[in-house]
Amino acid sequence: MRRRDWLMANAALPLAARAAQNAGPGPTNLVVSSANGLKACAKAMEVLKAGGDTLDAVVAGVTLVEDDPNDTSVGYGGLPNEEGVVELDASVMHGPTRRAGSVAAVRNIKNVAKLAKLVMEQTDHIMLVGEGALRFARAWGFEETNLLTERARMAWIAWKQSLRDREGNNNWTDGLDSPAALQAAERLKKLFPSASDELIAWALDVAAHPPTGTINCLALNARGEISGVTTTSGLAWKIPGRVGDSPIIGAGLYVDQDVGAAGSTGRGEENIRIAGAHTIVELMRQGMTPREACLEALRRIARNFRNNTELLNRFDINFYALRRDGLYGAASLWDGRMRRGYWADSQFAVNDGSGESRLEKCAHLLERKRG
Ligand code: GLY
Repeated sequence: MRRRDWLMANAALPLAARAAQNAGPGPTNLVVSSANGLKACAKAMEVLKAGGDTLDAVVAGVTLVEDDPNDTSVGYGGLPNEEGVVELDASVMHGPTRRAGSVAAVRNIKNVAKLAKLVMEQTDHIMLVGEGALRFARAWGFEETNLLTERARMAWIAWKQSLRDREGNNNWTDGLDSPAALQAAERLKKLFPSASDELIAWALDVAAHPPTGTINCLALNARGEISGVTTTSGLAWKIPGRVGDSPIIGAGLYVDQDVGAAGSTGRGEENIRIAGAHTIVELMRQGMTPREACLEALRRIARNFRNNTELLNRFDINFYALRRDGLYGAASLWDGRMRRGYWADSQFAVNDGSGESRLEKCAHLLERKRG
C-alpha cells in the first residue's frame, strides 16, 4: 500500500481499531537481524528454544558472524582503517535488567559483542574504547589475534592504490617510471596471483565504495523479554579512531523492555545525527508499527540532506525493529543497490522458530535507478 493510501485508510479508523490492526501476535520466540544474519538468527533461536536469555541468544548468534572471515563487515576479516588495522565497535542492551554495554575502536579482539556484554555485566560503566577496552579484554582473558585477513588486506591495498588513480600521485603503487600504468585489476592480480577474478572485482568495488556493513540482531522470547546487539568493523578505510553508530546506545542499538528494540546497519554518521534506534523505539511507544517507525527515522535522515537524492544516493542505511508484542519490521533508505552488475534488494533476516531463517524484503523510502 502506498504511504498516502495507508495514511488515508488509517486516519478513518478509531484509535482502538487502529491499535488492534497493528497488534503483533504477542510475546513469542522471534529473532530479527540484518541480512547477513541468517545463521546468527538460527543460532539465537536455538538458544531461545533451550530457554536461554535473549541477550545470550543474540550474542551467541553474532559471535558466529564475528568469527567468519568471509563477512568483511564484522569481527575477524572485517575491512580495516586507512592504516590497514581492523578496529571493531559493538554494543548490547538487555531488556529485563535495562542495562547496556559497549566498546569502540578495539584492536586485535575478535568477539567484541561478548566484550561489550562484559562491560555491561562486570563494570559500573557503559562504554570502553581503544586501549582501555583492549586492556579490559586482556584482563578477562580474551585471545589477541591479527584481525586482518588476506582478503581484507588485498582490498585495503586496492584502496591505497586507487588513491593514485584518483589523485595522480601515490607512493603505494608501482612507481612513476613504471612502463605503463597497469589497469587496477591487473596490478592487483600481480600482487595476489591466487585471488580469483571475482575476488579481485570485489576488492576493487569495496575500494571504490567503502562499505559500512555491520550486523544488528534483536530477540524476543515467549516471556516478552527483549534484547539486542550490534557489532561491526565500521566504515572501511576510516580514519583510525573513527567510531560509528554501532556502539552508540540510542543510535546503533536501543532496547526498552516496555516497548521493543531497534538497531541499524549502514552509514553510521547519518544514524548518529538522528539517534535512530532510540527514535524508532519512541515512535513505537507512540503507536507506530516497527516498519512505519523505521521509515520515519529514514525520513529524518533524508530531511538532513534536504531530500537531495543525489547526495542520499551516495550511501545506504537500514533500520530494524522488533516490538514487545512480536510485530517486527525493517526499512532501508533505498530499495536495493547495483553491485558489480547485479541488483540486490534491501533485505533483512528473520527466524520465528518454525524452521530455517528467511530473508524478507525491507520497506524502503527511495527507489534507485537500476542502470
Ligand atoms: N553502521 C556501522 C558504522 O557506520 O560504523
